[in-house]
This record gives sequence, C-alpha cells and structure tokens, in this order.
Amino acid sequence: MMGGVTDKVHNYFDGDQSMRGILSEQKKSASKHGFWRCLVCTYENDGSLSSCYICGVFKDSFDGWINKGENQALGICEHSTSVMAKALFAGMPHQVPFRFDTLSPDDIVSLGRKKTKDHLATAIPATISSSSTDEKEVVKILAEHDDPETSSALSSHLNGNRSNNLGINDNESEILVSKIHHLKLDKKIKNIKKVMSPSQYKPEKWILSEQQQETKSQLNIAIVGHVDSGKSTLCGRLLHLLGKISKKEIHKYQKEAKEKGKGSFAFAWAMDETAEERERGITMTVAIAYFESKKYRVVLLDSPGHKDFVSNMISGSTQADAAILLVDASKGSFEAGMGFHDVGQTKEHAQLIRSFGVEQIVVAVNKMDTVGYSQERFNYIKSQLAAFLRSCGFKETLITWIPLSAMDNQNVVTSASNDHLSWYHGLCLLDAIDSLYPPERDVLKPLLMPVCDVVSSHSLGQVAACGKLEAGAIRHGSKVPLGPFISILLMIFCCDSLNYVQVLIMPSGDLATIRSIERDCQACLSARAGDNVAVSLQGTDVSNLVPSAVICHPDFPVTVADILELKILVLDVKMPILLGSHVEFHIHHAKEAAQVTKIVSLLDQKKAKTSKIAPRLLTARQSATIEVSLERPVCVEEFSSCRTLGRAFLRCSGITIAVGIVTRIIFADEQ
Ligand code: GTP
Ligand code: MG
Repeated sequence: MMGGVTDKVHNYFDGDQSMRGILSEQKKSASKHGFWRCLVCTYENDGSLSSCYICGVFKDSFDGWINKGENQALGICEHSTSVMAKALFAGMPHQVPFRFDTLSPDDIVSLGRKKTKDHLATAIPATISSSSTDEKEVVKILAEHDDPETSSALSSHLNGNRSNNLGINDNESEILVSKIHHLKLDKKIKNIKKVMSPSQYKPEKWILSEQQQETKSQLNIAIVGHVDSGKSTLCGRLLHLLGKISKKEIHKYQKEAKEKGKGSFAFAWAMDETAEERERGITMTVAIAYFESKKYRVVLLDSPGHKDFVSNMISGSTQADAAILLVDASKGSFEAGMGFHDVGQTKEHAQLIRSFGVEQIVVAVNKMDTVGYSQERFNYIKSQLAAFLRSCGFKETLITWIPLSAMDNQNVVTSASNDHLSWYHGLCLLDAIDSLYPPERDVLKPLLMPVCDVVSSHSLGQVAACGKLEAGAIRHGSKVPLGPFISILLMIFCCDSLNYVQVLIMPSGDLATIRSIERDCQACLSARAGDNVAVSLQGTDVSNLVPSAVICHPDFPVTVADILELKILVLDVKMPILLGSHVEFHIHHAKEAAQVTKIVSLLDQKKAKTSKIAPRLLTARQSATIEVSLERPVCVEEFSSCRTLGRAFLRCSGITIAVGIVTRIIFADEQ
C-alpha cells in the first residue's frame, strides 16, 4: 500500500504527461462518484471532506488548480516551486513561492491533518495542551508577547468558541497555529535573566523559626572510586551493621547471588537493585541509602565506578558534602585505578569530587584482606595517592586514611579485630564520618533544588522530583479533607495555611503545587537546604519535570542560558582542546552538547593572572578562560552566587577533559 502511494508521488514529477493524466482522471472520478482524489497522496476522499483524510491537504487547492486550467497548473517550475509545494500553496490567499518564514508544505500537511481529524475548534487547544491551566498559560504567553490580535482571538476561542467552527476562519487559524508553534518553541528555549536579586529575598517566618530548632543535620556522602573497588559491598555492609538491612534480607541476597554464581556480590546487591546491575556485577546508576550516625542523618550516594557511567557518577556526586574514595588495595587493582596503564577512575573521581567543591575526603583502602593487611602496601598506596590528591587541591588535614575490609568487616563501624591490623590506631569508618565538619547551608536564600530524578505516579496524577535542596526551604500546605462548604469557609478565614505551596519549575517556567515531601524515605512537613528529598508535585506535566530541571521560588527563577564564560582547568588529556571543539557539557544534573566558541585567555595558575590572550589551543594541566555555546539552554548560576549551579565539566569521547566554574552568563544582548 505504502509502496503504491510512493510510486504515484514519484510519477507526478516524471513529466507533464503523467500529471495531465492524473488531473483529468481526478476530474472524472470526482464528478463520477462524488469522490475526489488527493493529488499529494492519491487517496480517494469522500466528496463531503474539505481536506484529504490521509494527508490533510485541502480540496480547494486542487479545485483552484484545476479551474485555472491544466497548462497553468502544470507550470511545474514557474517560480522554482515543486509540484507538491504548488499544490499545497494553491489554497493560500496569495500564491507565493516557498519561504522559510511561512508555513512549509510539511507544516501545512500536518496542520491539515489535524484539521481533518479534530476540526478547527479543537485543533488549536490540542496543539497547545489539553488542560485548562495550560490554556490560561498560553493566553498569558501570548499576552506577554505583545500581540493583542492573536491573544484576544485565542482568548475568545478558549473562552467558549470551542465548538464554533466559524469562530476563527481558516486563515486566522493558520496564523494562530503558526504563532503558537513559535511561541511554544520560544517558551521552551528562551534564555531567562533574573528579575529580582536574591538579596531582595526575605525568608518566610516558618523558615526562620525552624532554623532555631536543633535537629541532626544531613550529610550527603558520595562513595566514589574505580570499578570493583567494593563501594556497594561497603555500603551494604555498613547498612547491615547499623541495622538498616536485616539478617533475613542479607541471607536472601546471599542465597540468590550464590544461585546466580555471584556469591561475593551479596552485600553489593543491597545497592545494586536492577537485574542488569546484578547480572553484570557493576553499579550503573547512583544508589541512595540512609542511616543515622551519632552526629548526622547520613545520605550515602553509591556511585558507579565503571568508566562508561561517569556521567551518572557526576549527576549523583554533585550533591555530595563529603566523599569516601574507595581504593582497592589488591595487587594490580590499585594501579589500574591510578591509571598506570589507562584512564583510572580513582584519579578521575577524585578530581571530579574536588571540583564539585568537596573538601573533606575519607580514603578507605579496601580489600586489605587480599594483601594480608600489609602496612607496607597501605603506606605505598597512601604515598602515591596523597601526592595526587594534593595536586587536585585537597588539604592534607582534611584527608582521613583508613585501611579496611568490607568483606571481612574490619574497621567499618568498630575498630579492627584482626591482629594483622594492630599497626593501625586511627578511626574506623563510622567514626571518621562523624569527624567530618558540617557543611554550611544556604537556608535563608531563595529555594533552589536541582532535580536529579523523576518518578511519576499515574494513579495519583502526580510526579515526584528527587534531589538535594541547595538553597532555601520547602514545606507542603495543609490538605483540606473536609467537604467543599467547610473548605471554602476555611479558605476564606485562614487562606494562607490552606494554600498549597507553589514552586516554579525551570526551564519550562511551569508552576506546580507541593503535595508531599519525603526525606530519608519518611514523609515530612518541610525540608531545608542540604536535605535530600522526594517532592511530589501536582499541576505540572511530567515532560517539564526532567532531571536537569531546577525547582525554585516563583519570584526568584534560576537563570537559564546557553552561552557561558567558564574558567577551566584542563585535565591530563592527550588531545588538546581547540577553538571550535565539540564537547559534552555537564552542570548539576544537566548534560548538553556544546562547542568551545572562544578561548579568551590562558591563565597562570601560580600568579593567578592572564599569561596569554586568545591562544589557539589548550593542553593538559593548563588553566584558561573560555566561552562555550550550548545546543540548548540550561539552568545555571554564576559560581560566585551559587556553587552547585555554577560548577561545570567538559567531557569528550567518554573522558572528562576539563573541570571549571561559570564566571559569566552571557545573554544575546551582551554579545
Ligand atoms: P562498581 O559499582 O561496579 O564500580 O563496583 P563496586 O566498587 O561497587 O564493587 P562491588 O561492591 O560490586 O564489589 C566488587 C567485588 O569486590 C565483589 O566481588 C566483592 O565481593 C569484592 N569485594 C568488595 N569488598 C571486598 C573486600 O573487602 N575484600 C575482598 N576480598 N573482596 C571485596
Ligand atoms: Mg557498586
């Protein structure tokens, strides 16, 4: 069937002869059977249809064509316009050759198709959205775009002309649909500057009062390190020892893992939950677990160590306040992690973690059982790695070194029991976690929560966004489980407490309502900067809520931009970074294709000043100011105003090539 249609369409272009045949055939068939044949797809349409049922092209197009006479109609290249384009444009008020700023033949076909199926009145809302909130939103956007004609036409349409096909004529509707199309695109991609400065923000009373309450603060710890160093096993062991995973569950994991021939991964299965992760014996996405220590509510972010999943590691670890860098002590494995033969993730993860702003690091030298708990091996690893960590910018005083064995349960939550470890007198891992200092939190700044994951509940019509609150605080409003009459009375008399709290989702610009908050898998009334939460939202389309979106205060939207100035440090790369290089740009949980559009200057790291203007390329270990242009805008802040939203990474061919900070957001009017 499909082949037949294609053949016929080709024939139209074969020459005047075949076209003439088809036209006269069409005239005959139209008059004969009350059908008319579409010149574009050849479908035999019922005479009552005004446009083709299959491709949506208007019948008028052909009528006009035919009426003008075959010869005129067959002036195939009269205006350098194809037969198909002519057919499509024939029904338009002024016949013009194809231009890029008018509807293309494809647009007309797709618009026509909508019209045939839905009729004019329903076609417009369907193009925009089906919900009434969105209808209002569109009218608002139209108004914002200062087009009274369009907005009033659409507004009246949305306000009651739904079933009135005559409310808007064909021409108007096409113009409207085209404008809406543009506006919707604009809305999606426009860069957004701040309207209000965060300094104008006054925290609400409840935030200030909660601030005074003494509660254990949350500490987000990223577990990072080379593949197979034992990160998941250590997390599983820790959770089991702290009573978060029962003996029964561990037995179940042991039994199932053994059956699959992966007996040694039993503890890791507590974190690696998907079938693929278990089958392959590697972590692929960041797993999150919670426990309480004496001092903190700890959130463990178990990162994948495999080099293929570094971007997932980046997404998870940007939430970290501190890190545990796991190193495999066994012969050859430590060396692999250090990249003695290739790119090692011990080094890459350490570099990334430092550039996320993490200052405190616990280096857990794991699998010490495989080297007989040798002090010599431990010292060797320490000497090799310490020099590298210093070069990344970690201060020696903020690094804790622990020899341990997750498998043998040595130095995890209590001091080592194995005599071979008697030479070590330092802290066990749990105590080392409690020795970390609490990070500063921006609770009194406007809300900022980069979304790292989204879960949708179709049954409730809600979506839950997961992530860490980087600034500000959120709470959910009271529910009104009473009848409508009492609810209205309550709303009148105490409307503030009954209103659900609204947040803004960027870059889509949608407002959503907070319906519930979960912290550490427990429902809670509020959360503040530093907390890792799942927030269930209502009133927004799931498509707007994606990892990389940022939830913010409605009056203080995060900046959205696609041209950024960065200060970067080039890592140990083999290929230089050139002007025009295409890179993968990472920022919080967003990943975007980008191009280096300017190498502004080379920086002398020691003297902290410019050493060369506009160099042609950047090589390993060089520091520079560059400009990048992103394929699509991202939520971003300058590093000086928000560290988390102002740190960026450049990757290429699966390798992190540079780490940096956003020094300037460049808008089109500033270029
Ligand atoms: P990725 O997430 O894929 O990077 O791996 P991982 O770092 O989470 O390692 P995982 O916990 O999956 O463990 C890998 C292997 O190391 C498993 O076979 C574990 O049993 C083993 N392992 C982990 N800790 C120890 C340890 O202390 N001693 C010994 N001998 N083996 C261990
Ligand atoms: Mg793992």
